[in-house]
Amino acid sequence: KRPAGAPDKSLARKVNKVGIVGAGLMASQMALLFVRRLKVPVVLTDVDQERVDKGVSYVHGEIDKLLAKKRVSPDGANRLKALVTGSLDKAAFADADFVIEAVFEDLGVKQKVFADLEQYVSPEAILATNTSSLSITAMASQLKHPERVVGFHFFNPVAVMPLLEIVRAEKTDDATLATAFALGKQLKKSSVLVKDASAFVVNRLLLRFLGEVLVTVDEGTPFEVADKALEPLGLPMTPLTLMQLVGPAIALHVGETLHEAFPDRFTVSENLDRFVKAGKKGVWQWDAQGNATVDPEVAEL
Ligand code: 3HC
Repeated sequence: KRPAGAPDKSLARKVNKVGIVGAGLMASQMALLFVRRLKVPVVLTDVDQERVDKGVSYVHGEIDKLLAKKRVSPDGANRLKALVTGSLDKAAFADADFVIEAVFEDLGVKQKVFADLEQYVSPEAILATNTSSLSITAMASQLKHPERVVGFHFFNPVAVMPLLEIVRAEKTDDATLATAFALGKQLKKSSVLVKDASAFVVNRLLLRFLGEVLVTVDEGTPFEVADKALEPLGLPMTPLTLMQLVGPAIALHVGETLHEAFPDRFTVSENLDRFVKAGKKGVWQWDAQGNATVDPEVAEL
């Protein structure tokens, strides 16, 4: 059955090569998913070789884990690994049909990434973004071909969470949208079409809930009480663990975007703000006064 709002699938174009801009955790998880499901070349880039190498190593390591679990054959694992490469040269993206960015959540940075890419890719190549909350229309606004821009928003952990939010921007054309839905299907995700509004649908709902937990703590409820209170409802993770998985900086960014868009409904937690602005990394904790602290023994996120 065609998902609500998806154009006719006959408009979809085939994707023979995928480019990924950013080689952080989310980007590397996406690289793994694309190569596993599409079995096409996937090229990763980032600002320096070290990050690129780290991204490629992550994907290779995850393929080794699949091999150990006998989910791929030794030959299959080698073939998948060979399909994933990293490059600092944007020319490596020239023949990519679908390029997705997962760089720092800043509109200006993302606009620059797309503007740079436009100089290398073909006019039909799709430019997708995994942004959690920024406007896709704004991201496309300065491009020669804004009709090929689409939101393609995964959830963490990418390998496991079935949902994919596909976002149609003001000028996104039907062929781009149909290709995005076809890709979602190949990736075995459940795609939903959402409006290009702040934080789309899922993060808007999630942040209302997670944000409220943090504000309750700001107001003096012991963190353990606020974090664990809903455990008997059978949530897969407590709010704190989920925010740790997503990353406190991302949670803060989405919270701030939503606060700007709907100031009466979204409050930014003082503790979360302090924690992230102090540049703290690691697994966060709360002290007896309810202030966010960090366990110095725990490795960086
Ligand atoms: N990366 C890759 N795979 C992972 C993983 C990770 N971080 N964590 C778990 N998995 C895999 C395991 O390998 C296992 O796979 P297998 O069955 O093939 O061996 C499978 O997931 C189940 O893992 P476990 O049995 O160890 O753990 P759980 O049953 O506790 O499930 C969970 C783990 C699926 C992560 C579950 O806790 C969950 O659903 N948590 C909520 C996650 C969520 O809500 N994510 C959305 C966050 S919002 C977001 O991402 C949006 C962004 O824009 C901010």
